[in-house]
Amino acid sequence: MGTFVFISSCKKEKIVGLIAEKAMVVSARIEASEIGVKILKKGGNAYDAMIATHFALAVVYPVAGNIGGGGFMVYRNANGEKGALDFREKAPITANRDMYLDSLGNIIKNKSRLGIHAVGIPGSVAGVFEVHKKLGSLPMKELIQPAIDLARNGFVVTEKQAASLNSANSSFKKANNYTIYFEKEWKAGDVLKQEELALTLERIRDYGKDGFYKGKTAEYIVNYSKELGGLICYNDLEKYQAIWRKPIEFSYKNYSITSMTLPASGGICLAQILKAIEPFDLSKIKHNSTEYIQLLTEAERRSYADRANYLGDIDFVDVPIDSLIDTDYINKRMATFSWDKATPSSKVSNGKILGYESNETTHYSIVDQFGNAVAVTTTLNTGYGSKVLVKGAGFFLNNEMDDFSSKPGVPNVYGLVGSKANEIAAEKRMLSSMTPTIIEENNQLKMVVGTPGGSTIITSVLQNILNVFEYDMGMQESVNQPRFHHQWLPDQIRMEPNGFDKKTKEKLTKLGYNLLERNSLIIGRVDAILIRKDGTLEGGADTRGDDAAAGF
Ligand code: GLY
Repeated sequence: MGTFVFISSCKKEKIVGLIAEKAMVVSARIEASEIGVKILKKGGNAYDAMIATHFALAVVYPVAGNIGGGGFMVYRNANGEKGALDFREKAPITANRDMYLDSLGNIIKNKSRLGIHAVGIPGSVAGVFEVHKKLGSLPMKELIQPAIDLARNGFVVTEKQAASLNSANSSFKKANNYTIYFEKEWKAGDVLKQEELALTLERIRDYGKDGFYKGKTAEYIVNYSKELGGLICYNDLEKYQAIWRKPIEFSYKNYSITSMTLPASGGICLAQILKAIEPFDLSKIKHNSTEYIQLLTEAERRSYADRANYLGDIDFVDVPIDSLIDTDYINKRMATFSWDKATPSSKVSNGKILGYESNETTHYSIVDQFGNAVAVTTTLNTGYGSKVLVKGAGFFLNNEMDDFSSKPGVPNVYGLVGSKANEIAAEKRMLSSMTPTIIEENNQLKMVVGTPGGSTIITSVLQNILNVFEYDMGMQESVNQPRFHHQWLPDQIRMEPNGFDKKTKEKLTKLGYNLLERNSLIIGRVDAILIRKDGTLEGGADTRGDDAAAGF
């Protein structure tokens, strides 16, 4: 499972991901993908597999898989009905706009990123119970048990995982007042057992959502938060609710695209960028050529400027979504685009509307044997979130508060700036870039896609859509392509190293683009499923991580 096959087409070897006849799960870890598939084989549906995969990732992928974070799900039922679930974290009840500023109004370094003050109220457990209530078919106990077993019996740490854990070691120390069980020198092949997490998962198994938001787990969270001087109280936990939302739906050429709405910016930005590109004939523009990078960059620049100015939690601010994704509006925004020279970001602000993550997140895609499809992106924000491991309960808490705009114009960890729309308020949800997305052609399911990557999530999803639907790539071939990213500010094109040819880069520089190509730069870790013409499923599991597909 999860390996590639090579298909010889003409003279070229074409890389093809795992092919399955009926059902597939693609996630950051083979253990989680296999647990999801096991549930499907038992007769469970994609929603059951979502729950099992989510809990498994919380054990086997602690850098981003979580019960102490949040996320978003976009789904499409076999009958074509679509929907979206928001289980994003919330600011605590006692949070306020200036909580990360000192008496002079300056940002207090790292307060929104490391340690207990960075933590938003977790939404993941409420999210999976919401999914179960509305769409699940097997008993919750069966869905969570594999994760409990995995936490208790342990799993084998990979090389990439050992490096990631070791790099976070000093932050683990700073964020906690005791030695957490992740603090040691890790090496590939070590076994990680998490008994306290197993016990927490058992409380969730036995008491449902209350096993997390009330009772002993809540006590562990609130007590440890108090010990560390944090804000989280019982009321914060009891009040947390996941919310069903209307997804963003739009068309790009013959394709219908469904993606996440606010507080995730992904759907709106993806719609803006694809609509900006749509009038151009990509069959005449070579993949990853100077012109291709120019076009996407200029569309991205304009969209991210709007993101910074207009987008925030829809329950708190009035966001003109329809106007922002209106084709005329987007065409006007692109009117200043020239093939002859870059538009400096200083010359691009938000458009005028009439009327009115280390970047560690994780994404998994699921298609079941009944034809249901699920795209879930979930996170603790940066790797291991706030690095706070709840004493006695064994799981990391997120540092999602950094996704708010702590001060207008001051960039967050992803270099993203924000404005009033995304300022902090009690119980508000912070703006996200997550972009779980489902694509249909002629009312038939075609692709399930998403990725981690902080601000680069949107542009990574975008490039995979274009790779497959404009450049005729298979799913794994698409996922393997080098990626680039622009987000208005800072005014630079980030590029994965060694992926783009020298001449292309020279031409871009001559046109006035600033390129950033660092050795270790990874843009996104896309996990996706493509429904091929013959009806079989092809997984795209990103080799930038330990990601793997499983299916049957
Ligand atoms: N924490 C990254 C995001 O939600 O965009």
